[in-house]
Formats: sequence, structure tokens, C-alpha cells
Amino acid sequence: MKKYGEFGGSYVPQELKERLDEIKKEFEKIKKSKEFKKEYLYYLKHFVGRPSPLYFAENLTKYAGGAKIFLKREDLNHTGAHKINNAIGQILLAKRMGKKRIIAETGAGQHGVATATVCSLFNIECIIFMGREDIKRQRVNVEKMKLLGTEIKEVTRGEGTLKEAVDEAFEYLVNNSDVFYLIGSAVGPEPYPEMVKFFQKIIGEETKKQIKAQEGKLPKAVVACVGGGSNAIGMFTDFVKEKDVELFGVEGAGLGISTGKHAAAMQNNTVGIMHGMKTFIMQDEEGKVKEAYSISAGLDYPGIGPEHAYLGSIGRVKYDSVKDEDAVEAFKLLSRLEGIIPALESSHAISYSIDLAKKYDKDDVIIVCLSGRGDKDMEQILSI
Ligand SMILES: Cc1ncc(COP(=O)(O)O)c(C=O)c1O
Repeated sequence: MKKYGEFGGSYVPQELKERLDEIKKEFEKIKKSKEFKKEYLYYLKHFVGRPSPLYFAENLTKYAGGAKIFLKREDLNHTGAHKINNAIGQILLAKRMGKKRIIAETGAGQHGVATATVCSLFNIECIIFMGREDIKRQRVNVEKMKLLGTEIKEVTRGEGTLKEAVDEAFEYLVNNSDVFYLIGSAVGPEPYPEMVKFFQKIIGEETKKQIKAQEGKLPKAVVACVGGGSNAIGMFTDFVKEKDVELFGVEGAGLGISTGKHAAAMQNNTVGIMHGMKTFIMQDEEGKVKEAYSISAGLDYPGIGPEHAYLGSIGRVKYDSVKDEDAVEAFKLLSRLEGIIPALESSHAISYSIDLAKKYDKDDVIIVCLSGRGDKDMEQILSI
């Protein structure tokens, strides 16, 4: 029985299934454990720096000329993005399972840095799989991971981006029974999408309390960028039940949907199986996965988490996309207007929110998940 309509599931070889069942069993235990929750929240508060602020972006609001725009400042977390919330949760679980080695994939390098960081914190060996192209695009994060004592495995097959890094991490997992695979997005076979959501839903839970305290009401809309979908599902989960709150997921439209050079799996409307899950995937007529393209390494993924596929299919969340050039413009704009340099991934959501704000009244509120900071993207921006 799948959790997300026809999407999700666990399409993996038998030897992996048993190991995933082991993780699932432990995850079911910690979900209910008060002791685990206390430990997880301790590290989120004292190591990550939560709760992250919900900031009224007054200058951006004036510029957009519509609803008040608030930013959920995940960029202020230790290591610079939302990825650390999930990395803390999963490493605490791996520790309980007695695992001595962690592997992870990374695109933008943010999940790699978050994983390397928590491995240093808990003195666990760490190997990060990263595509050749992403190593070039995200040099600063590569150097940070090395400094943290992590081994980087360069993935050279295919386009050398996130999809191939996940492929290789899964192969390594099949061949090494003592490792724990710390997946960085709400993707993969069960129980990963649910587990990543569990560790990221704090974003939306905090946001809801903060907006009620600051504005005395719920927002009209919530916006988040979507690579695999972890910051978005983390932000959306507590709002899904609020029927009057519109939810928007923004994928990377790259050079434009019609050029085929994009990373907007939801715009393709073809269902397939990849990385152990059934979901919307960019694929050709023969079902072969197409290469994704986005200027932003963290959005450069040809699929989407299964819960997003489900929420999109039932119409609860609207999925749209923003082109590279518009994301770069938003990157520069937020820096200039608010003194906040956003990650290129988050810049897609910022760009989308500027148009969206105009559709609402001035007293209305929209909230954007600012999933990370843009320091890692400076070299790339300068090279344009
Ligand atoms: C700052 C930032 N935002 C967003 C993403 C996209 O990932 P997800 O869709 O899982 O939130 C990444 C991925 O690396 C990222 O680094």
C-alpha cells in the first residue's frame, strides 16, 4: 500500500529491501519516542540555531507592489541551508542503529556539507558522492567538506550531476551492508520520503506559529523551490490541512521548458520509476530518464519526491517553474533590496513570489521559504 496514491513505493533489489525495512522499523520507533524528539530538538536549537526567523521583507514587498512578503530564514541555519535539519535527524537514527559509516549524495553541496558536519559532530566516517559538474560549480562547498574530514567520490558517468550521484550512492549501498545512506531530499524508496519530511516539517510548524504571532493570521500563499522537494515538503506539511492557504512549488525551468533544457519534472507529466520510487520523471518516449538542466545544482534533478507528485495530482499544490535568467535576477534583487544573498535554488522561489504578490491585496501575506544562502553561488554568478 503506497502512502501517496499511485506514487512512491519501494522499487529496489531484494538485498536493499531488507536493509530499508531495518531503517523503517527504527524510524517507526523514533517517530513516537519522546527521548529521540528531545535529542533532535536539542541539536536543532543549540547546534543549528533554530528557530529560524520569519522576516518581513519590506523592501521586496514595496518592489513587488502587492501582498506582504515574508521570508522563512533557513539560510541562517548553521551550514547555510535547510539540509542540516534532516542531516541531524538521520544521523541520530543511524547512531541508534549502530552504523559506523555514512554515505550521502549532494548536488549544490549543501546536503554534503550538512552531512559532513554532523559526521564530524558525532565522529562517524563520511563519504560523499558528487557529480563532476557539480564539483566544478560548487568548489567552495567541496573544500568545506574536505576540511570537515570527508572523502569525496567524484561521479563522472552521464552528465555528472545529482541523478548520477544518487545512482552511485545506491550502488555503493547495495555492496556495503555496514553503511547508512543519509538521503538529502524527500526522494527515494520508502521510508526516505516520509523520513525526510518528518525531519523537515519543523520549517512549516515554526512558520505557522510565527506568522500567527506576527500578523495574527495565516498567509494567503506559501512558496518554496523544489529540487527533490525537501524544503518544500517541510514548509508545506503543516499548511496542507489549511484549505485557504495556497501552496506553490517552484522547479527550475532552466533555459525554458520548450527548449527541453530544464529540471521541471512536474511540467512533463510522465510517470516512471527512478531511485526506487514511482513519481513524475523527465523521460523520453522509451522511458529513458532525460538529463535535467538548471543553473542551480540543487534543482538539477529529473524527478520529484513522490508526495509532491501526489499533492500535484490532486491539485492541492500548484507546481510551476522559473527560468535561470529570472532566478539570477532575483538573486541580485534580494541582495540589493534586503541585504540578503539567497541561494540560487531559493532565488527561483523569490522570483516566483514577486509576480504572485501582485495577485493579492496589500494586507495579505505570502511566505517564501528562503532555503539557503548564496555564498556558495558567488563564483557561478560572477562567471555569467
Ligand atoms: C539551498 C537549497 N535549496 C533547495 C535545494 C533543493 O533541494 P530540496 O528540493 O530537497 O529542498 C537545495 C539542494 O541542494 C539547496 O541547497
